[in-house]
Amino acid sequence: MTLPPPVDLGAPLPSPTPSPEMLARLATRRSAPAQALTEPGPDAGQVADILTLAARSPDHGKLFPWRFVVLGPVSRAEIAEQLGAMAVAKGLPSKARAVLAKLTAAPTTVLVISTAAPASKPVWEQQLSAGAVCMNLEHAASAFGFASSWITDWYSYDADALPLFGVGEGEKVAGFIHLGTALEPLLERDRPDLTAITQHRP
Ligand SMILES: Cc1cc2nc3c(=O)[nH]c(=O)nc-3n(C[C@H](O)[C@H](O)[C@H](O)COP(=O)(O)O)c2cc1C
Repeated sequence: MTLPPPVDLGAPLPSPTPSPEMLARLATRRSAPAQALTEPGPDAGQVADILTLAARSPDHGKLFPWRFVVLGPVSRAEIAEQLGAMAVAKGLPSKARAVLAKLTAAPTTVLVISTAAPASKPVWEQQLSAGAVCMNLEHAASAFGFASSWITDWYSYDADALPLFGVGEGEKVAGFIHLGTALEPLLERDRPDLTAITQHRP
């Protein structure tokens, strides 16, 4: 499966047409438990395509306030070992070590880093854009036939842990998006009551 050829800058894009397949996917996509993600995962070409699609996300001011780190299993295993030792040294609850299984299971992981900083557009909007990238990444992975899991966990907020992943000063983790194939069918979860959260005004 290949992406359509890129459209030249400023050239007209195809207008949206009804897509029952896309509707069905949007209506049924679900996250997988990260520990249940296994081979096959995306190959290098598919990862490149998935990132290409993820980077086609709205951002105010064309600041592109995000970047990617693609983490294979080797680097994640090494980092998880260091995080395990860190969790013990910091006296964190045993759960902090247990959740490291979510970090290492999937064949491939994309770390989406928010690089938001004071600029022409509000930082909040830049951070929202990083969230949009994560969601588009999950949809793109789904279009290639892969399941995904968006995880943060304690090490996304720990100043000592972040450098292990290459997260720099002032940057934030938007999400670790784990990619692979779900071991078992995913079960629907509860969804919000739209009437409770939606207002219609004339
Ligand atoms: C920003 C963000 C961070 C999350 N971090 C975690 C996490 O650390 N651990 C976890 O088990 N789930 C986490 N989740 C929730 C999972 O991604 C969850 O599987 C997902 O929201 C389920 O929704 P879905 O099936 O509609 O995709 C996070 C979700 C978001 C949006």
